[in-house]
Amino acid sequence: MYHVRSPGRVNLIGEHTDYSGGYAMPIATDLATTLEAEPAEAVSVTSRRMEETRSFAIEDPEPVGDWTDYVRGCYAVLHDAGYDPGGFEGEIGGDLPIGAGLSSSASLELAVLSFLGAAYDLDLSREEIARLGQRVENEFVGVDCGLMDQFAVALSKSNHALFVDLGEASFTRIPIPADLEFVVVDSGVERSLSTTPYNDRRATVESALADLGVEHSPAVDLAALSELDGEVAQRLGYVVRENARVRQAATALDDGDSERFGDLLSEAHADLAAHFDASTPELDSIVESAVEHGAYGARLTGAGWGGAVVVAVAGDSASELAATVEDEYREEFPDREPSTYRIAPSDGVTVEQR
Ligand code: GLA
Repeated sequence: MYHVRSPGRVNLIGEHTDYSGGYAMPIATDLATTLEAEPAEAVSVTSRRMEETRSFAIEDPEPVGDWTDYVRGCYAVLHDAGYDPGGFEGEIGGDLPIGAGLSSSASLELAVLSFLGAAYDLDLSREEIARLGQRVENEFVGVDCGLMDQFAVALSKSNHALFVDLGEASFTRIPIPADLEFVVVDSGVERSLSTTPYNDRRATVESALADLGVEHSPAVDLAALSELDGEVAQRLGYVVRENARVRQAATALDDGDSERFGDLLSEAHADLAAHFDASTPELDSIVESAVEHGAYGARLTGAGWGGAVVVAVAGDSASELAATVEDEYREEFPDREPSTYRIAPSDGVTVEQR
């Protein structure tokens, strides 16, 4: 039996930068998707969360529009890349919340790909698995996401943040200062990327780069933005400033400067809300309340338009702060069902055979 543990991710800073070859800095979560599986001829997969078992043949998979697409899509991209894995009988479980902006989809894709890689000796590197996961989203599910989530799930190490340069496809791991902890507050506003303006934002940023004749967003000169239309300049302007903040945040972590790190997070949120229009009143309110109650900083994490906020906080005040922020949020938005998680930065996906 193969036991796969595939984490989610919390992006600490560097939002909407990955698909233009920019910088981001995620961690992998201790909340994870699990897959217990054994090779078989066809696929029979149970989702504990969905309380259903589904079976399908592995030849010529087509999307059907539900959670099994993240499994079917793995076969589609593996076949396309010249691999021919067999089926499996397995059960998906774990404690990673779905639709909270913690990359439950990347987590599931990478669980399946890592299992198939191990069980059928496909000899896939972690980076290859990450790229195949992105292809599942782009080519099968129909979400034009970047590579940040899959890199985080594949390549993270415990107690480190992963600084990724998506233009160079390179990464470094930065130790997290001992006093710094992360709390994630899920606003309870569920969303999936396919129903948000995500693809639209991506198209705007890409066409702006094409107009400027620049391949990757870190190479854009802020002064060149004046050549673009108002709204396009506003969107790309945010991306350029965000890239700069990710570098500064990496330096702050290296220096053990949690105050500076937190300030950058809050600044990033304000910019993302004002110039990329990716926030919601719920997320803004959580950020505000966290900072007011003594967090180093806070920002929405993931694509936005719902999902969660990451709060950077001193370890000794994390529990109290999480409870206060959650209470205030419930009072302000009584119809929402928030959840709060203390996140320990964890290792990327692992596969064990026992
Ligand atoms: C989603 C996508 C990522 C990234 C973020 C925004 O999580 O899957 O590729 O673009 O949004 O930073």
